[in-house]
Amino acid sequence: MATRILVTGGTGYIGSHTTVELQQAGYEVVSIDNLSNSNIKVLDGIEAITGIRPLFEQVDCTDKEALAAVFEKYPGIKAIINFAASKAVGESVQKPLLYYRNNLVTLLNLLDLMPRFGVEGFVFSSSCTVYGQPDHLPVNEDTPIKPATSPYGNTKQICEEIINDAVHAEAPYKAVLLRYFNPIGAHPSALIGELPLGVPQNLIPFVTQTAAGIRECLSVFGDDYNTPDGSCIRDYIHVVDLAKAHVAAVGRMLSGKSEKPVEIFNLGTGRGLSVLEVIDTFQKVTGVKLNYKIVGRREGDIEQVWADPTRANRVLGWKAQSTVEETLLSAWRWQQHLGEIKD
Ligand code: UD1
Repeated sequence: MATRILVTGGTGYIGSHTTVELQQAGYEVVSIDNLSNSNIKVLDGIEAITGIRPLFEQVDCTDKEALAAVFEKYPGIKAIINFAASKAVGESVQKPLLYYRNNLVTLLNLLDLMPRFGVEGFVFSSSCTVYGQPDHLPVNEDTPIKPATSPYGNTKQICEEIINDAVHAEAPYKAVLLRYFNPIGAHPSALIGELPLGVPQNLIPFVTQTAAGIRECLSVFGDDYNTPDGSCIRDYIHVVDLAKAHVAAVGRMLSGKSEKPVEIFNLGTGRGLSVLEVIDTFQKVTGVKLNYKIVGRREGDIEQVWADPTRANRVLGWKAQSTVEETLLSAWRWQQHLGEIKD
């Protein structure tokens, strides 16, 4: 019988790509989502790619009773991958309580229910935001955590601490904290991808929407940073590569190979790319000219950060495979197919 995994936030951007990879690796996925920031049609995309429609329930993870009902309806869930969270940095400054409630209550409910239903492993979506602006680059997992600069970032730090405390109190489960760098791109089939609501806050959806003529002009937030071309540097990782790391992490945990009750992995490519390099590469691979202008810095932006993914490479046997060209092209193909999935 296939191992059953609960994916929260399962119709979201990273959740949907991870569901595909889990199903292709032979897992059975129970997907839950409150659909606050995703579309039910994503299930069609997942089914078209894998031939399997994930089991799905529309549930808000802050509703503990509804969550318990999912575990009752689908017995034998072995692990949880928790993507259900609010993730917009700017919005978190405007609505901090919403962020603390969504992200913390979701986590507490899931951890509370795990022993009751015999769930053995928990994978948490964390972020490189926990490192702030690191003193040394690239960043490995032993780099000190810096004070959070937004409520969103704070929820990631607090959630990591809660998981550590819960597991070390001899909880009957193990956990993996995955610190994502900048996930971008879409499934090569262009059947699933990122569906930003309203004006995108992140770079790549803004780039693809500008290229598609939906946005007039892309603003580059600052060209006076202490970097080779003056724009900020990030480690952009293909979302499919990122999704595959979750499959490796779950497999390791459930087969009892974890060396510690809580393991932490950076998920990045190990390569930093500036905003201007992203624009330049996007134009080259797509042949589309981007209308962009340099504007002032965005408040709260980190100057430069990229991963040292050595631990994930060595321990998980996982490595980001896609080139940045392939990744940006996948984002563009998805943008071109988007009209078909939207209402
Ligand atoms: C941020 C968070 C990250 C979070 C992610 C999800 C930090 C340090 N990082 O990533 O933890 O998971 O949001 O939302 O808090 N840019 C432009 N023009 C635009 C948009 C972005 O120039 O229109 C630039 C930004 O200044 C930045 C880069 O592009 O240098 C990437 O920005 P973005 O995609 O928003 O991601 P982060 O801010 O790195």
